[in-house]
Amino acid sequence: MPVSSACPYTSSTPGRDVPAAVARVRSGPEASSGLADRRQAESFVRQFHHEQPGEGDVERRVRAVLDEIDRTGTYEHSPAELAFGARVAWRNAARCIGRLYWRSMVVRDLRHLTDADAIAAACFEHLRLAGNGGRIRPTLSVFAPERPDRPAPRIVNDQLVRYAGHRTADGDWIGDPRTSLLTARARHLGWKRDEEAFQTLPLMVQERPGLRPDWYELPDDTVLEVPLRHPDHAWFAELGLRWYAVPAISDMTLEIGGVRYPAAPFNGWYMGTEIGARNLADPERYDLLPVVADRLGLDRTSERTLWRDRALVELNVAVLHSYQEAGVTMADHHTESDRFLRHIAQETRLGRSTPADWSWIVPPISGSATSVFHRYYDPVDPAVRPAFLPREA
Ligand code: ARG
Repeated sequence: MPVSSACPYTSSTPGRDVPAAVARVRSGPEASSGLADRRQAESFVRQFHHEQPGEGDVERRVRAVLDEIDRTGTYEHSPAELAFGARVAWRNAARCIGRLYWRSMVVRDLRHLTDADAIAAACFEHLRLAGNGGRIRPTLSVFAPERPDRPAPRIVNDQLVRYAGHRTADGDWIGDPRTSLLTARARHLGWKRDEEAFQTLPLMVQERPGLRPDWYELPDDTVLEVPLRHPDHAWFAELGLRWYAVPAISDMTLEIGGVRYPAAPFNGWYMGTEIGARNLADPERYDLLPVVADRLGLDRTSERTLWRDRALVELNVAVLHSYQEAGVTMADHHTESDRFLRHIAQETRLGRSTPADWSWIVPPISGSATSVFHRYYDPVDPAVRPAFLPREA
């Protein structure tokens, strides 16, 4: 349910005496003050009880939460509130086409963890549980939140698994150019890279903002990877391409009821085009379309041969085929598009809107051949909570 001024969940309790430090949150939460916004807190608790009837007396919980905020500047979610808030943050993710399964997300409550070693170990366990031998499970691990008395830890990497990238002296790229800054940061911390195209970066964990991150090499059994082959072209395997199984975003802040969790890595499963039409194909990523086109014997002297388009399709065939053969969950863009429209229909029946960002929802290839292309979506409200937010610091 969007939290807007027209929303029934946003009423506040006016005129209460609160300490100056706590009152400041009324003008909006600051980046890392750790103070919980009272209005957001109340609005969330009401939404939780509205959608989860049978979870107890809402008024009593609202009073307890506001009282806790007045005393401490923040409050602690119950495990049920946390799981609900995390799932709704996914449901609210306007750029995500995969939201049909929002209720099924496994939420690991690790709020007691603030120590870098323990967080890294828990992230590795996240990858094992989520990877699940190939049957990917959407999973979220929540570490300690921001508090006025203790800033939250952070994961420096943008995903738990990422391939390193750097530019050589001759100006060629090795690996994923997207991670060149992360790669440089890891090296600066003492990590050693090699000259491989698919070398996983270490996980970098900061116990507090401003502290030097600790880094941890990913244990082999945490990184499930798929070597890429094409069903009809034997030469494709010789390209030596691969990708990992679990896309686990680790640099977004989960905000629930005014409480911020900057370390809250989450994953779904891949849709093939993310890898085949972006990661391996974009000119500023692995830039493989010319390579694939040449192996396919396509004429690259004119755009009108559509060599890019034909190379894209074969690359995407290879990705889908390889994940399927490896027994690793992956969606194709036609199926995922249909599921998304089912999700919207289901939400509509429940009286909820599904704001969506057309430019992110429509797949990067064959847009008009998918069902999500041929319509518009409810407008996105950036103030909606619970939400996954871009990291601010
Ligand atoms: N597009 C990103 C990548 O290629 C992953 C984003 C999340 N994707 C997902 N299917 N849950 O790594």
